[in-house]
Amino acid sequence: MVQRCSKLKENIEKGRKFPKDRPVLVTCGLPYVNGPCHIAHLRTYVPADIFVRFLRKLGQDVVFICGSDTHGTPITVKAEEEGVTPQEIMEKYHDHFVRFFPKIGIHFANYGSTDHPLNHKRTIQIVEALHENGYVYAKTLKLPYCPNCDRFLPDRYQRGICPHCGAPARGDECDQGCGRYLEPGELIDPRCNICGSKPEMRENRHYFLRLTAFDGFLREYLPVMDGTDIARNYALKWVESGLKDWNITRNLDWGVKVPGEPDLVYYVWVDAPIGYIASTEEWAERTGGDWEYYWKGPGHLIHFIGGDIVYHHGLFWPSMLKGADYDVPHAVVASGMVKVEGKIFSKSRGYVIWVEEDYLDKGLDPDALRYYVASYTGHTRDLDFSWSTYGEKVNKELVGTLGNFLYRTLLFAHRNYKAIPEGVVEPEVKAEVEKAIQAIRQGLDDYEFKKISDAILALATYGNRYLQSREPWKLGKTEPEKARQAIHNSLWLTKALSVLIEPILPSKAESIWEQLGETRKDTPLTEALEPLKVGTPLKKPSPLFQQIPDETIAALSEMVAERIEKARG
Ligand code: 2FM
Ligand code: ZN
Repeated sequence: MVQRCSKLKENIEKGRKFPKDRPVLVTCGLPYVNGPCHIAHLRTYVPADIFVRFLRKLGQDVVFICGSDTHGTPITVKAEEEGVTPQEIMEKYHDHFVRFFPKIGIHFANYGSTDHPLNHKRTIQIVEALHENGYVYAKTLKLPYCPNCDRFLPDRYQRGICPHCGAPARGDECDQGCGRYLEPGELIDPRCNICGSKPEMRENRHYFLRLTAFDGFLREYLPVMDGTDIARNYALKWVESGLKDWNITRNLDWGVKVPGEPDLVYYVWVDAPIGYIASTEEWAERTGGDWEYYWKGPGHLIHFIGGDIVYHHGLFWPSMLKGADYDVPHAVVASGMVKVEGKIFSKSRGYVIWVEEDYLDKGLDPDALRYYVASYTGHTRDLDFSWSTYGEKVNKELVGTLGNFLYRTLLFAHRNYKAIPEGVVEPEVKAEVEKAIQAIRQGLDDYEFKKISDAILALATYGNRYLQSREPWKLGKTEPEKARQAIHNSLWLTKALSVLIEPILPSKAESIWEQLGETRKDTPLTEALEPLKVGTPLKKPSPLFQQIPDETIAALSEMVAERIEKARG
């Protein structure tokens, strides 16, 4: 802890949160593999990917880790609904995510699985370490048991009323109200989620993590934990309201088996975050990297998560790490919630966008969706996905502003010069790019991705203004030198934009480079300020973004409306 606090302080004093000499490990909340990727997943993965790409552009060594969350009742309930085994569900959707991520431009250093033997092993090692350090104990408690289904009802096998806010809730989570984690046995008026029966209470021996012993640690750690305010503040609020020891085992046969306890597995929220470590170990095995550098050494750990899992990442996870002698996270970057067409995201109520089926399979642009997520709102605010806003953003911002500047410049340059013409970059133009870079760096330090997309759009707006004020199309015959100068500057801005947009719009950045006559990717940020290669032949450009017709937007909106209607029954 002392080491971690001084590490944070030292960075702040250096005026930079992520010093080059200290590699970082960035993780994304692991998706449950009980269904395909949806828009709420992208709320975490897209900003994390943008962040990682920018850090790399700044010369930082980053390991980007994710994997499938394969255990727990989210998987077993889905398997029962479909009449297949949890193994089949896990494999089906794990394969989906592996195929899916590259399609949206996300490339993890390792995409692992919590069912990997390394994770079973690491989970047992960590719980044993917690036990040896005095943080795990056994206790017999009374738990709901369905006499009809003849089993205990862990987590999603029961529904009832949240004891904190009165909303309908699942066994382990107030999913429709206050969002709190619920301990087994806490739910009021529980019912079996499979058959609806009223359960009886039966005794069973379980294991607990002594979370209460981490009260002092959490009060010291959370205020200096970097990341978004909602992660810090919610976690601190929960510490203030009083910690309870945490039941870390469940009566299930799917999961990481508790040694010596044939009827118990670890609760999914034990082995899921440990999956971050196991996925790093998978990466290390494959590449010869050093996983301990990040988990027990000087490397920084940064977790990107959805706002609904702050409790687990702000309280359980740092306590587990601390109690088992691992390093604690440098930052928890929690996002705001997701809405679809103005209503809280809900798969069961139809307020959902399935990214592959509803978006990519319809031929829509992956980069445009990345842009939507980054630019819609501040990272900790609600992101509302609506097709009409999507249409407006694509047509006005991507086609009308960014695409317009790039295409006009490249078209004029190709028609009139066929190669990059000579010229001198004007101080005002250079200052605009420097201003954008400054704003981007600030956005990274603040985990505010909208600041980054706004800076890029502002640069494109400036480009359009510049072109409009110079009117090179009027100068061609009378003042060819001035026209050349204006196009040189516009092409220089085009190159700068291709460097700066790459983390948000990676495939568009590659296309711009091609249209500038080069094959480039993963360019360093400093490339934005480098001179153009005068004389490079230019290809005939094509527009980078396509206008979305109103009828397409209407059809897509109708698709969601029908889904909502169907869900109403
Ligand atoms: O809430 C969820 O979707 C979980 N699968 C997230 C797990 S994150 C991590 F801890 F593994
Ligand atoms: Zn509640």
